[in-house]
Amino acid sequence: VALDRLNTFGLPARAARLVRIDSVAGLQALVRTPAWRDEPRRLVLGGGSNVVLTGDFPGLVLKVELRGRRLLGEDGDAWLVEAGGGENWHDFVCWTLAEGCPGLENLALIPGTVGAAPVQNIGAYGLEMAERFAGLDAVDLHSGELRAFDAAACAFGYRDSVFRRQPGRWLIVAVRFRLPRRWRANAGYAELARELAAAGVVDPAPEQVARAVIAVRRRKLPDPAETGNAGSFFKNPVVDAEQAAALAERWPDLPRYPQADGRCKLAAGWLIERCGCKARDFGPVGCHANQALVLVNRGGATGADVRRAAEAVRSEVRRCFGIDLEPEPVFV
Ligand code: EPU
Repeated sequence: VALDRLNTFGLPARAARLVRIDSVAGLQALVRTPAWRDEPRRLVLGGGSNVVLTGDFPGLVLKVELRGRRLLGEDGDAWLVEAGGGENWHDFVCWTLAEGCPGLENLALIPGTVGAAPVQNIGAYGLEMAERFAGLDAVDLHSGELRAFDAAACAFGYRDSVFRRQPGRWLIVAVRFRLPRRWRANAGYAELARELAAAGVVDPAPEQVARAVIAVRRRKLPDPAETGNAGSFFKNPVVDAEQAAALAERWPDLPRYPQADGRCKLAAGWLIERCGCKARDFGPVGCHANQALVLVNRGGATGADVRRAAEAVRSEVRRCFGIDLEPEPVFV
C-alpha cells in the first residue's frame, strides 16, 4: 500500500498492510485476532502530518477513520464536546465555533486529526490543547481494552504526552474538550495581537480570532497540499536561566519565553535563521523562507533527504549557539 499521499511531507513509502479503523468494536476485534499477535510492527496513522517516513514500513498501518462530533452538554462553567479520533482537527474547530462553543480558535488550521492532537499536545498562538482537554478514550493495542484517560494520566508537556512516549501502544478513539461558557479572547500572543490590530479589531469575537490565526498561519506556514512539510520540524529548546542570559548578552534580540520552572524557552526558528539556514536548501529539502522552523519538500525528497537536511540544520545551530535541537515529528 502506498503511503505517499498519507503523509503531509509527501515522502515515498509503502506499507506491507493497511487497515482502516472506523469502529471501536472493529479495532478491538482486530486486536484479538491471531494475525495481530503475529505482526508486532504497527503504525497508527492519523493525518500523517507529524511523521517522517524514512523507508518502507514492513508492518501494519492502522489508518484512523473514527468519525463523529457531539455536544455532550454542560459541565459546570463549561461545555463538554467530543469528537472521534479520525475527525479532521480544523473542521472540528470550525464546528465548535458554529455550535457556539468557542475556546479552540487559537488552534485553527493545524493539520492533522483530533486523535493526534493529544499525542503531541498541539499548541499555537498562546494556547495548548491541554488547556481545553477534558479526557479521552484509547484502545490498548496490547490487550484490546478500552481505557479512559484524564489529563493527569496523559502527562501532557510541551509537545509531549504519555502517548508520544509509548508509540504503538495506544490508539486514541475519541477526545473530549471543556470549552468555557464564559469565553474570553486569548489574543496576547504578539503576532496574533498585531494581526487583530492591523484588521482594526478591538474586542474580537471568537470567529475574528480564528480568522486572524488563519491569516497568520497562511502567511507563514506552507500549505501541505502544495508543499510537503510536517509543520515545525524542531521543538523550541528550553534552557536554564543562566544559559539564556549568556546568549542574550551576545544576541540582544534573542526571543526568550520564561517558563514556570525558572527555565527559558528559546525560538528555534530564530536560532535557525540567525545561523544562516533560513530559505536555504540542503538537497531536495530546505528551510521555509517565511518560517525557518519548517522543513519543506522542494520536490522528490525521500525520508533520507529529510534526515540529512535536519542534521545539517542541527549542526549549524549547535556550532553557532551550542544548542542541540530536538526534532518534533516522529521518524518511522
Ligand atoms: N522567528 C525568527 N525566524 C524564523 C521563525 C521565527 O526570527 O524563521 C522568531 C519570530 O520572529 C518570533 C519567534 O521566533 O520572535 C517565534 O516565532 P513564531 O511565533 O513563528 O513561533 P515558533 O516558536 O517558531 C511555535 C510552534 C508553532 C506554532 C507557533 C505559533 C513549536 C515547535 N512551534 O513556533 O507550531 O504555530 O509557535 O504559536 O513550538 C508546529 O508545532 O508544527 C507549529 C507550527
